[in-house]
Amino acid sequence: MASEILVAPSQHLLTHSRFLVTLRSQEGKYRSLIIFRLSTSRDVPHDEDSELNDKNDQQLYAMEAHCPHLGADISHADIEDCDDNLILVCPWHRYDFDLRTGHSDTGMKACTYTIEVRGNENGLELRPVSEAFADPPPPPLDLSHLFLSSAEATTPAEPEEVVPAENMPTTLVQWAVLILNTADPALKVQRTRHAVNLFRTGQLKSIGHRASNVPRPPEIPPRVESYAKNTVDPTKVARRKNRAVMLHALANIEQWAIDLAWDIIARYGPEHPELPPAFFSDFTKMALDESKHFTLLTARLSALSTTTPYGSLPVHASLWDSARATFSSLRARLAIIHLVHEARGLDVNPGTIEKFRRARDSESVDVLEIIHADEVTHVTAGHRWFTWMCDRQGVNPVQTFREEVRKGWKGDIKGPFNKEAREKAGMTPEFYVDLRGGVDGERAGLPVRDPKQDEVPAKTVTPTVDIHWSSRR
Ligand code: FES
Repeated sequence: MASEILVAPSQHLLTHSRFLVTLRSQEGKYRSLIIFRLSTSRDVPHDEDSELNDKNDQQLYAMEAHCPHLGADISHADIEDCDDNLILVCPWHRYDFDLRTGHSDTGMKACTYTIEVRGNENGLELRPVSEAFADPPPPPLDLSHLFLSSAEATTPAEPEEVVPAENMPTTLVQWAVLILNTADPALKVQRTRHAVNLFRTGQLKSIGHRASNVPRPPEIPPRVESYAKNTVDPTKVARRKNRAVMLHALANIEQWAIDLAWDIIARYGPEHPELPPAFFSDFTKMALDESKHFTLLTARLSALSTTTPYGSLPVHASLWDSARATFSSLRARLAIIHLVHEARGLDVNPGTIEKFRRARDSESVDVLEIIHADEVTHVTAGHRWFTWMCDRQGVNPVQTFREEVRKGWKGDIKGPFNKEAREKAGMTPEFYVDLRGGVDGERAGLPVRDPKQDEVPAKTVTPTVDIHWSSRR
């Protein structure tokens, strides 16, 4: 790795107080760190002229993103001011680390980095840790709009609690299985937010993937019948290629994407006890992102069209079909779902955004741009863990990826490719150019299709129906 890395324009640091920075070496090795922006002044000026490096006002620190003890994600660690020392307290076992030097009273040492502000130059990707550290923090999320408002919608007689009174999960894998079995999308979102917060703040007993009595994920995540009931005639939907139909289709995909992020934790964690905590940090973040996307899209849908609330249009589930084809192998899952489907999403997202821009729908454009930026990091996570597995198995990542596609995909990996976004995520052209899946048969492999196909809904409803990730991406 270079000894000095340009991270981001300095004014970008003024939106949040914590940022996750992911670095990748030329050899494909990853390293994550957290930048902490501490302020002695409450009123930070949000303009480009502000002197971010004024030591009287702003202090920047950078520390590796995972605790050197057992690997906890330190993005949500407490920072305490003790006798002029800034102490980071790990959320898992409360070990303390000096934010400047990395030293701990336990004798361990966390890796810290010197950080300097030199002006507003462009640099690497920088991501806020979460809305919890936004400056100023956003108001609490209102999820009430997620419930169906159509006449045919039914509300469950006994709404389930976010935290079940009986058999309350105590590990991350138990939460993952509970969320996968949660049919109601609003509750799925709420439980995802709750579980990720528990995990990040050290309130969970353990990840639980090495436990002897680990629960198994469902073959197919259930769906609430009322949300799968189409109140709009499918034959009419086929002719309504409007923005509401697109947003509805995208929200449905996000609901499956939440399940996929939890499924990779629950299904493969127990099979791979060697997986480090950073793997689970990445995929809990992905689950949280996907639930945010679902919320943003359904909110936008209800603002745009009161006649097509979420659940009123036919939906598909081929993303899950594709995931099922990879049940037997984590490496195949990472390749097919995250490096084929999600990477294809990076190719088609700009076109989708452009359609909304042409319709002068700037609110939807904003939502889709947030989603696109997040998806780059999801493909990055796929690439990170795929290459991590290849490294452990002593195989070449490019050749192995191409082999996985030949074994588990039907048809060409089609362009045009968004080379820039793919490259940012680690997917250099040698991974995907001139690549074709070698699978034959009706349902064997799910080739990337023309996104227009996805706008033609099937009459069937979840979970045996069909939509493709690439419709939004
Ligand atoms: S993992 Fe941080 S103190 Fe144990």
